[in-house]
Amino acid sequence: MAFPPSFLDELVARNPIEDVVGQYVSLKRSGSNLFGLCPFHGEKTASFSVAPDKGIYYCFGCHKGGGSINFMMEIEGLSYPDAVRALAKRAGMTVPEDEQYQSRYRQQERLWALSKEAARFYVAQLYAPAGAEGLAYARRRGMPKSTLTRFGIGFAPNEWTAMTDAMRAKGYTDEELKESGLVSVSQKNGRIYDRFRNRLMFPIIDVRGNVIGFGGRVMDNSTPKYLNSPETIIFNKRKNLFALNLAKKTKLPYLILVEGYMDAVALHQYGFDCAVASLGTSLTEEHAVLLSRYTENVVLIYDGDEAGQRATRRAIPMLEKAGLQVKVLQMRDAKDPDEYLKKFGADKFKNLLEESSNRVEYQLNAIRKKYDLREDEQRVKFIGEAAEFISSLGNAVQREVYGHRVADAAKISYDAMKIEVNKAYKRRIAREKKRQEKIDLAPAQALQPKARSIRYDNIKSAMAEETIIAMALKEPALLDEAQDLKEEEFSSGLLGSVYVQLRSRHDQGLDVSLGVLSDLTGEEMSHITGIYQRQQGPVSEQAFRDCVRTIHAEHQASKVDSADDLMALRNRYKERKGIKG
Ligand code: UTP
Ligand code: MN
Repeated sequence: MAFPPSFLDELVARNPIEDVVGQYVSLKRSGSNLFGLCPFHGEKTASFSVAPDKGIYYCFGCHKGGGSINFMMEIEGLSYPDAVRALAKRAGMTVPEDEQYQSRYRQQERLWALSKEAARFYVAQLYAPAGAEGLAYARRRGMPKSTLTRFGIGFAPNEWTAMTDAMRAKGYTDEELKESGLVSVSQKNGRIYDRFRNRLMFPIIDVRGNVIGFGGRVMDNSTPKYLNSPETIIFNKRKNLFALNLAKKTKLPYLILVEGYMDAVALHQYGFDCAVASLGTSLTEEHAVLLSRYTENVVLIYDGDEAGQRATRRAIPMLEKAGLQVKVLQMRDAKDPDEYLKKFGADKFKNLLEESSNRVEYQLNAIRKKYDLREDEQRVKFIGEAAEFISSLGNAVQREVYGHRVADAAKISYDAMKIEVNKAYKRRIAREKKRQEKIDLAPAQALQPKARSIRYDNIKSAMAEETIIAMALKEPALLDEAQDLKEEEFSSGLLGSVYVQLRSRHDQGLDVSLGVLSDLTGEEMSHITGIYQRQQGPVSEQAFRDCVRTIHAEHQASKVDSADDLMALRNRYKERKGIKG
C-alpha cells in the first residue's frame, strides 16, 4: 500500500498532532509540549505527551508513540490505509486513487451495509408470522419490546435461504454474503445457505455503530446454544465487546463485564446500562485496553462455576495491566446475572454490587478456600501462602488491614502474622535480586527492545543504528554523512527499512519526520518513537559518523562470522544464557 509521499506530507501537515490527539484526549500545555491522560492505558497522572513541533505523541508510561497516522491506527483500531483515509476526510482531502486499497475499503463498507440490512431483516422477521416462536421465546426470557428494540434483537426464520434471498434482492452478491459470514457453503453443491436458522439473533455492534456480526441463540436445548459469526474483515472478536456501543454512554462510573449476551441484555434492562459481554471468547489484552478507554473501574461478574473462576483469575491481571481498578462480584443463589435479576430484582442486585470485593479480598478468599482451617497443618500452609500474597501488596495500609484479617481467620496473633509477612517479603526481595543479577550478567538481553516482536541480533550494531535514526530525525542533514551506508548493513531489518525511508525522503528533498513513516506496525512505530524520545546524547556529525563506522565494522565482522555459522550460533547461545567467554 503506497500513497505518494507528497500526499502524505500534506496529510500530516493538515492534521497537526495536537488537533488529532485533542479529539480524544484533553491536553494541557506545559512549555512547548502538551500533556494529558494516556488513552492507551488507564492512569491518573498525565504521562502522555504531545510535541507539536515534532509532530509526535509519546507516552512515558506505556511507551506507545508515533505520529498522527499511527495515533489514528491505535485509537480507532484502524489499518494504515484506513487511518490515512480517516485523516484525509478530517482535513477535507481526497485520497489519491489506489485500486487495491479503494477496493478493500469499499468491500468493508459493503459488508457493514450488508450486515445492517441483515439485522433489519431479522428484526422484521421477529414480528412477522415466521417469527412467532422467536417472539414467544423472547417473552419467556423476560424481554419486553423496549429491550428487543434497544438491542436490535431479531429472529432468523427456520428456512434455508430466507436471509440469503432477501439480501440478493437488495443487490448483494453471493461473494459478499460469503465474506460477511452470514452464510455457509454447501459441501455437496457449493451453493450458499443461511448460517443462522431458527435462532434469536443478537447483533454485535462496534463502538462506531457498525453491525459487525451476530450471535444466534437456539430456543431449545440443541447445540451449539449460541452460534456466532466467524471472524471476517469487519469482525474481530479479540477487539470487540458486546453492548459496548451502548455501555460507553453510561453515566455510571464503572463498566460491568459479564460472560453472556443475555446477562448484558438483562443488566441494561434492569438499569445497569454499563454492562458489556465478551463474545464467547476469553478476555484479551485488546479488550482490556478497549475498556480502559471508557472507564477506570471494572466489575467482573463471571459464573460461579470452576470455569468462571478460572476466567476471573485470568482476567484480573490483564485488566489491571491496562490500568483498571478491578472488583469481583461473586454470583450466589443464581447461575448468572440474568437469572439473578429475574429472580431477585434490581435492588437486590445493587446490594450485591456494593458488596463486591476488590481484587485483594477476592484473591485472599480464593487462597482461603483451598485450605481446611480446622487442621493445624493446613492452617500453617494457609498462613504461608497468604503471607506471600500480602507481602506483594505495595501499600502498607493494605498489608496491615489484610494481615489482620488473615490472622483472625487463622486464629493467630497479628504480631505472628506480621513476622510471616516480613519473612515472605525478604524472600521476595532475595528472589528479585537474583533475577536482577541475571539480567546484569546478560546486558545484551537488557538492551533488547521491550516489544517482543522486535529482536536485535547484533546489539552493538543495533545501538548505533538506533542512534543514527534518532539523529537523522532530529537533524536530517546528517544523512548526507551516510552516503555509503546501505540497508543490508543494518543488523535490524526494522531499523534498516526505517533508514531507507528517511534516506529516500531526504534525497527527494521531502520532509523527514516520524509522522510520515509508513508500513510499520503500531508496535514498531512505538519502538521508533521511543528511540527518538530517549536520544539524549549530542547530535553531531562526529557522533553520527562514529555510528556509521560501527555499523560498517559490525557488518564486515558478521560476514566473517557467518563463514563459521556454528561458532556464531554458539556465541549467541552463550550470550542468551549469560555465559561469559
Ligand atoms: P452460557 O452457556 O453461560 O450461556 O454461555 P448464557 O449466557 O447463560 O445464555 P442463556 O442465558 O442460556 O441464554 C455464556 C456465553 O458464552 C458464549 C455466549 O457468548 C454466551 O452468552 N457461548 C456459549 C457461545 O458462544 N456458544 C455456545 O454454544 C455457548
Ligand atoms: Mn444465562
